[in-house]
Amino acid sequence: MTARSDAKHISPKEAGAKRAAIAKAKLSAPDLSTRIGSTPATTFRGNPDIFGRLVEDHDRHRALFAMVQDTDAKSPERDTMFRELVREVKGHAAAEEQALWSTVLRNPATTEDGRHAVHEHKQIDEMIADLAARDTATRAWTERFEALKEKYLHHIREEEQEQFVAAEKHLSASDLRHMRGVFNRRKKEEKAAVKIEEKIRLKD
Ligand SMILES: [Fe+2]
Ligand SMILES: [Fe+2]
Repeated sequence: MTARSDAKHISPKEAGAKRAAIAKAKLSAPDLSTRIGSTPATTFRGNPDIFGRLVEDHDRHRALFAMVQDTDAKSPERDTMFRELVREVKGHAAAEEQALWSTVLRNPATTEDGRHAVHEHKQIDEMIADLAARDTATRAWTERFEALKEKYLHHIREEEQEQFVAAEKHLSASDLRHMRGVFNRRKKEEKAAVKIEEKIRLKD
């Protein structure tokens, strides 16, 4: 499936939500570029349910990836920003699994969608552990970071355009509101508790 771009069709509500999410990322380092360009089309951005909340985090993560790439390879800021990105991404994934994917997995109609998303979380974790074990000043690190970015952007686009769309059909409006509350609570706790594992991956 090719990514659709929202460049021409983004509504004022969606644009506002995207700007707010990027502004949150910018708080950690106001001087770094947060330019993420156009994002894949989604109907969830700015919604008051769990999916709107998850897309808000995704936009924040898109900005954090751009910010890490805007740091100087040899500066300590690269490591600091990488670790902030990792805490965000890992806290998000754990809370998303608890608030959304656990329920999606329980329903036979959507088990495969939940399984796909959780499997990718594991692959992303392994790429992060590999990067955390390496020297941020090297070219190898930069190349591996680009591979992580590509994998992560693929993961969140697919969630927004495929797995969230499938899951939404089986969830009630009150489920979706309740899940947003669970996500917010768990995200805060999971982010605060993140331990960054360091483990070189021997095979690619
Ligand atoms: Fe995810
Ligand atoms: Fe997500």
